Amino acid sequence: MLNIIKVSNEEQFNEVGAGIIAGLLQTNPRAILGLATGSTPVGVYAHLIELYKKGLVSFAQATSYNLDEYIGLASDHPESYRRFMNEKLFNHVDIDLRNTYVPDGTASNPEQAAQEYTRMLDAAGRIDLQFLGIGHNGHIGFNEPADELHATTHVVALKEDTRQANARFFNSIDEVPTHAMTMGIASILKSKQILLMAKGESKAEVLARALTGPLTTQCPASLLQTHPNVVIVVDQAAGGMLK
Ligand code: PGA
Repeated sequence: MLNIIKVSNEEQFNEVGAGIIAGLLQTNPRAILGLATGSTPVGVYAHLIELYKKGLVSFAQATSYNLDEYIGLASDHPESYRRFMNEKLFNHVDIDLRNTYVPDGTASNPEQAAQEYTRMLDAAGRIDLQFLGIGHNGHIGFNEPADELHATTHVVALKEDTRQANARFFNSIDEVPTHAMTMGIASILKSKQILLMAKGESKAEVLARALTGPLTTQCPASLLQTHPNVVIVVDQAAGGMLK
């Protein structure tokens, strides 16, 4: 079931997103979180840090698994997703860093590292809440549009439009990694609850396609329609084409 929440400004967007994550941790302090990177979560994480500082939420017993990581970027590279998570959230709250997992972008054998990530996820049980953004091409995590999608964590060649979209964080497009490691679609859909967040007019078309269009591997986010518990938080612009 898709439950759509439309908010009217950026502050509400971040409050509602953070409130859903904090609410879970309040009722289940040992929750397993699936976390995301990108522009969308930044303000949500900032708001979670505020809630933590006010004593309203604790991550002390929580565990987190991130969706994806660039292949070839070391954990201390400014654009690695491990560093993003440390700087935007983990370093500012009481989570035990040993309970935070991000795929290893520098593994000497990425395929094997992907399989190990899958094994770890399976051993952990089901993710309680998986946080997702959506790419302009309909990707979730780095599950790019394709004729076939992968079930579990795997190595993926990034689409040119994804590399272009992410080039804003690098000095030039040439520095954007060509490959990434990402949780697969089945791993994402296995989560008990999914929180999909999108803001801005540029996401309106893909969001409408994902939520109301046909189920297709060419729009990986469309598979979220098969999940029983998805909360979608959008601003007016991103939700503009949703009926
Ligand atoms: P964004 O990325 O939050 O930076 O828009 C979303 C995504 O590509 O999944």
